[in-house]
Amino acid sequence: MNDNRLPYSLVDQLQRPLQDLRISVTDRCNFRCTYCMPRTVFGQDYDFLPRPEILTFEEISRTARIFSQLGIKKIRLTGGEPLLRKNLDQLVAQLTAIESIEVALTTNASILAKKAQSLKDAGLNRITVSLDALDDPTFKQMSDADFSVNDVLQGIEQALYVGFEDIKVNCVIKRGTNDHALLDLARYFKGTAVTVRFIEFMDVGSTNNWQPVEVIPAKEMKEIIDAEFPLESLEESYLGEVARRYRYADGSGEIGFITSVTHPFCGQCTRIRLSTDGKLYTCLFASQGSDIRHFLRNGGSDDEITQHIITLWQARSDRYSELRQLESGQKKKIEMSYIGG
Ligand code: GTP
Ligand code: 5AD
Ligand code: SF4
Ligand code: SF4
Repeated sequence: MNDNRLPYSLVDQLQRPLQDLRISVTDRCNFRCTYCMPRTVFGQDYDFLPRPEILTFEEISRTARIFSQLGIKKIRLTGGEPLLRKNLDQLVAQLTAIESIEVALTTNASILAKKAQSLKDAGLNRITVSLDALDDPTFKQMSDADFSVNDVLQGIEQALYVGFEDIKVNCVIKRGTNDHALLDLARYFKGTAVTVRFIEFMDVGSTNNWQPVEVIPAKEMKEIIDAEFPLESLEESYLGEVARRYRYADGSGEIGFITSVTHPFCGQCTRIRLSTDGKLYTCLFASQGSDIRHFLRNGGSDDEITQHIITLWQARSDRYSELRQLESGQKKKIEMSYIGG
């Protein structure tokens, strides 16, 4: 542990510590997942950030170092699709050089096969891959892009080959679209080093036309898998873990369910998000962020930025998912591709 860290734990209004920083390194993506960046919403493509608006690697690293002094232990690089950011391995190397920080990456894996080795060499600790089906027609229906399941599976294979361990696969289930992916993915990855987590379709952002009927509750997903492959529940592995974990009764690995709709986990939410253009969001469902780029670009000191973050976190009382029923539809929400998943 670094001796310069705060002597006390920084907590918000609900006594939640700040532990986990998610950094969106690009708002662009080569997929158009219907639950995240649907292609047809405005009849035109998204307005992506112009390059000068985007934080440089030096700005991101400096921010990350400040966060590490505040007690952050885990950084997750997200997007958009983070591998579309040129030379991402250089950023990974800068971040993994920070003491006591674990760096993880969330990717759609479409170009992971090419990048896995350089990411490993840069010191990346963990990879989570988004994959919503094992058959191409459903995969294409979900991702709306010109890639195949094979591209993603090759990315996973290559990541395993270069030495990444405990890779996770995240699968968003939409009722009526990819229900069958539950058993397909469970069967395919059972007995491998890859852990699959099934995610309830969330009402994040304002463009994905979220309908409650399209959510398969985690309880129902678990029953579907349990009927074919009996499951036993496991304890959470760390405070604030978003997945409910199970192991296969026959000992062939584990599986998880992310219950953000039916059993929100706001009570243990230790996450802050840094958008591509340098705004901090204290909730995935926030409608506004708090800009720190002006400090970074106009001579702000580390102390000023630190104080800004402390004030922001201490004032935090977000728990959107728990309040969902009361507040839905009231505010314009930020898109997950911009804020970081
Ligand atoms: P590890 O435990 O480090 O593997 O990561 P994680 O499970 O914290 O992160 P991951 O990005 O894999 O999260 C999986 C999914 O859970 C996300 O894609 C979201 O769908 C959902 N999720 C993650 N964080 C939050 C959050 O803060 N709020 C809500 N409502 N959903 C979240
Ligand atoms: N519901 C649930 N998860 C979502 N993600 C993006 N949009 C949604 C949504 N509407 C998550 C998925 C994906 C990651 C990049 O973001 O887990 O794998
Ligand atoms: Fe891209 Fe991931 Fe969003 Fe799909 S979920 S559109 S892969 S950022
Ligand atoms: Fe955290 Fe907001 Fe998600 Fe609740 S809804 S878990 S407060 S990010």
